[in-house]
Amino acid sequence: MDTATTGDFDIPADIAATLVDPVAYADDRIHDSYRWLRANNPLGIARPEKFDPFWVVTKHAHIQAISRQNELFHNADRPTTLTTQALEERVRKITGGPNLVRSLVQMDAPDHPKYRALTQGWFMPANLGKFEARVREIARATVQRMLARGGACDFVEDVALGYPLHVIMEILGVPEADEPRMLKLTQELFGPQDPDTARVRDALSAEQVSAMLQAIIADFSAYFRKITEDRRQHPRDDLATVIANAKIGGEYMPEHDQTSYYMIVATAGHDTTSSSTAGAIWALARDPAEFAKVKANPDLIPGLVDESIRWMTPVKHFMRSATADTELGGRKIAKGDWLMLCYASGNRDEEVFEDPDRFRSDRKPNRHVAFGYGAHLCLGQYLAKLEMRILFEELLPHLKSLSLDGEVKMTQAYFVNGPKKLPIRFEVN
Ligand code: HEM
Repeated sequence: MDTATTGDFDIPADIAATLVDPVAYADDRIHDSYRWLRANNPLGIARPEKFDPFWVVTKHAHIQAISRQNELFHNADRPTTLTTQALEERVRKITGGPNLVRSLVQMDAPDHPKYRALTQGWFMPANLGKFEARVREIARATVQRMLARGGACDFVEDVALGYPLHVIMEILGVPEADEPRMLKLTQELFGPQDPDTARVRDALSAEQVSAMLQAIIADFSAYFRKITEDRRQHPRDDLATVIANAKIGGEYMPEHDQTSYYMIVATAGHDTTSSSTAGAIWALARDPAEFAKVKANPDLIPGLVDESIRWMTPVKHFMRSATADTELGGRKIAKGDWLMLCYASGNRDEEVFEDPDRFRSDRKPNRHVAFGYGAHLCLGQYLAKLEMRILFEELLPHLKSLSLDGEVKMTQAYFVNGPKKLPIRFEVN
């Protein structure tokens, strides 16, 4: 990184350290760092130990500017999520590239638009409408189980974890019996630093971590190979049938691309939606006035959904790399530089959001970047919002009161995180 050698825009080491510290994302210190960076060095360089230096993009406008210039800022050339030098080196030895999988997230044009077009129509509201009645059934059953808990539950364990997982698995066509396996794989892939969900511990070497990641991918690959064979012979009305039979230039996708496709759909959609769903209930449980406001006016539910996605911002970052020398926000960014898009910071940018730390279901407009922006904008955003809206429509009318019943705990992870324990008490109407 040429630019990074100058040191002019360096971020203080203690703040840079929080960006790569999974615990800082669990105890909220990350938001102190983001706040400091937005005010003092909104586009600075972090040089934490064990990582290549990277630009830290904390302003909403810069995140959007980078995300919409997809030729100038690539996804595929360097790791798409924060990765240590040692792990990147291992991955390059295994795959010849910086990433273990090649899903939509790790592609650029010309492949990216072709692969995205294969399922884009599936994820549009017009098609999702077909599933609304079934999603409502799943939501009702989930709510009934929660109400049967008799006034207290762990909302993550009892509602938020299972509900979006079940919806995406039905849409994908994975049998219910296999859902625990999918959940575990996702948690290991997205939150490998959290001691509660990890197969690994911090002590593992880069070699061990890469071996573990390869094992996870091999698990997925073997699992979905069978599904592919089945759906080619017996097509159904599910997303696996679309992926299994999709052709690029007249040929089925190469197997690695196909596994990656199943993986992104199977993993991207539930931990993220779970975290946002839990975020909404957390916000309402700690603020009786906000709860009363939404109860009194169900038209606020879509606003509640958007605000919880902004406030929680489960995907904390994605990385990009510059394909040419360029300038942004008064900084000279060099070809090859790595950039961290801090969505959770953009979503608390004081220049865009009034009183940004406050949770307000009636926030309008709410132009958050929790789903990213530009060509890679989350494919599942309408599905995530539909699931959340339906769950709250089914749940809130039953609740007379809602409050916290103990300490909320967040997952320790710098990629995707959110509540992992949310004890609540509630009274039923
Ligand atoms: C991409 C967030 C739910 C599937 C993304 C990106 C973000 C994100 C930040 C990257 C966008 C970018 O680079 O500009 C979220 C959040 C969710 C959520 C916060 C829930 C609240 C879902 C669901 C699915 C899904 C339910 C469906 C299965 C995808 C896919 C991509 C993606 C396939 C890759 C798109 C591409 O690179 O073209 N998501 N997501 N996501 N998301 Fe989501």
